[in-house]
Amino acid sequence: MKKYQLFLCLLGLNVSIASAQDKHIDKRVDSLLRLMSLKEKIGQLNQYSGRELTGPVSNRKDELLKDIKAGMVGSMLNVKGVKDTRAIQAVALQSRLKIPLLFSLDVVHGYKTVFPVPLAEAASWNMDAIRQSAHIAAKEAAASGIHWTFAPMVDIARDPRWGRVMEGAGEDPYLGSAIARARILGFQGEKLGGTDALMACVKHFAAYGAAFAGRDYNPVDMSEQMLHEVYLPPFKAAADAGVATFMNSFNTLNGIPATASTYLQRDILKKDWNYKGFVVSDWGSVREMIPWGFAQNLADASEFAITAGSDMDMESGAYIGELENLVKSGKVKPALIDDAVKRILYKKFELGLFDDPYKFSDFKREELVMKDPEHARIARAVATQSIVLLKNEKNLLPLNAGIKKIALIGPLVKAKADLASTWTVYADTANMTNVYDGLQQKLGNKVELSYAKGCELNDTVSTGFNLAVKTAEAADVVLMVLGEAGDMTGEAKSRANIDLPGRQEALFNAVKATGKKVIVVLMAGRPLVFNAIAEKADAIVYAFWLGAEAGNALADVLSGAENPSGKLPLTFPRSLGQIPLFYNHANTGRPVTKPGDIRYKSAYIDAPNSPLYAFGYGLSYTSFEYSALNIAQEVIKKGESLKLSFKSGGDQKRGKSEAEF
Ligand code: NOJ
Repeated sequence: MKKYQLFLCLLGLNVSIASAQDKHIDKRVDSLLRLMSLKEKIGQLNQYSGRELTGPVSNRKDELLKDIKAGMVGSMLNVKGVKDTRAIQAVALQSRLKIPLLFSLDVVHGYKTVFPVPLAEAASWNMDAIRQSAHIAAKEAAASGIHWTFAPMVDIARDPRWGRVMEGAGEDPYLGSAIARARILGFQGEKLGGTDALMACVKHFAAYGAAFAGRDYNPVDMSEQMLHEVYLPPFKAAADAGVATFMNSFNTLNGIPATASTYLQRDILKKDWNYKGFVVSDWGSVREMIPWGFAQNLADASEFAITAGSDMDMESGAYIGELENLVKSGKVKPALIDDAVKRILYKKFELGLFDDPYKFSDFKREELVMKDPEHARIARAVATQSIVLLKNEKNLLPLNAGIKKIALIGPLVKAKADLASTWTVYADTANMTNVYDGLQQKLGNKVELSYAKGCELNDTVSTGFNLAVKTAEAADVVLMVLGEAGDMTGEAKSRANIDLPGRQEALFNAVKATGKKVIVVLMAGRPLVFNAIAEKADAIVYAFWLGAEAGNALADVLSGAENPSGKLPLTFPRSLGQIPLFYNHANTGRPVTKPGDIRYKSAYIDAPNSPLYAFGYGLSYTSFEYSALNIAQEVIKKGESLKLSFKSGGDQKRGKSEAEF
């Protein structure tokens, strides 16, 4: 009892220290605000990209420097490194009120050490691993002068045509919420202001993942129920976890651009969720209201955005050009500007930038942190856990000791830059470990490796097939590494066809026709459709993009040094026509109750309803249990509300799931 009282006392003490700190910052914000002119306030709401500042000389460079010196810029994105951040901060400190800049960057899956893409990490279902990965990214970026990352992206994604599925945690709001929390705790550490932590920015608010037809920047139209049950929960989890900032999104939601949505930003976020951080627009999304047909000009767009609760304008140049007139003409109330400015200044105080504007830009720390060998070790462990074993006929994997010669075939065997995929900012692609090197290091003294590329990723010819077939014939077993190019997913990378590009499936067929056992490692930033491989390959490993340690992690799993444990964070369709296909969809009044009996039932006449592989699917070397069900049972035991509406079963040995959707 005494211990309990002591605990409550300490808890109370913590709460009161925290609120005393809040009040202290509030006071400092208020007194600074009183000193600011309207122009200076609007400057704080303006974010520019700094690529031109550090790149070759351009016309914009002089203008940017002039604006920063005049206090007309609150934040810069795309400036990194101690040298550059110090130099640019020094310019901001020449402004009248010496308000420091916030430096932000898309630190999405690692900074210098490249971790697996977020979708791959989601396949680990391991919150500690995900938190650790985000924390190392934050440590490296924060040592390099960065204050703020535009991550985590928590958009629910149910359409693999959409290129941005690689940035998120897949299709499920429960898993997505847990991962949102883990990433935020990782990025932000114990407390904002630590030099090993970044402010996180949860994005894209909201429903961006539901763009029509999986095409990026397309409109979104959805019911209130779908919005609240599926698309908003990860954002709510992020707000509850104390995320410092929100980013709104490019899409419209039921006809209204998210950047102009009072419903999303004021009613839900700032009122219902009582959110105290600030909202940044997405790149140019204020300006894009004009082509959307929602605003006639930049002045209208600015009025709509600030009124709706969009606090900072990223790269539209809208607020800086329009807000002063809008306030003077009475269209925008000064209190709205003050509220936005206060939210931004609060974060600058919380980070400690007013006490030391160069706090994060320390040459010694930058050098030391980037060299920490522990980071690569953890990246390898996280990558290992992100690998999903989809099929393992007759326990072909792990590679057994009797194998003397392995033929490595395919356009991704020796790939390096692809392994980083998109949204890397500092990747040293020359030093990434590919599959060839990983296996060579792991097995090289016991096993002979031979190699044939077979074809390019997006080839139209089959000239390399003969050599590939000969190489296969001369080996005990074949390992093919196939997939997309690393830059085929990410922003503006929607695909209308998600088959393996080029001649890769034909290459697989030619190699398989040799009669050799074939293991296929697939690399991609999205689910691909690969029915022939699913049918005929002896073993299939889905690797997504595993980052700098990809080859080592795959060698660990293929050799059996590690047991594969990844589970799919989203459903893999058999054909494009099934999309969107996800496990927790609502019932139909006409379900298929007997296999094959589809007359007047909710079914396709030319394809099964079931997916190629279901959400939560993943095998290990030691059990063939249907892992999603185990996870669901755990969740249900804890009283959480994950609802699985599919049946388990299926022939695990053939690597198929017959989950009924
Ligand atoms: C546009 C993207 O949608 C967003 O995710 C990113 O953070 C910004 N550009 C800044 O690079």
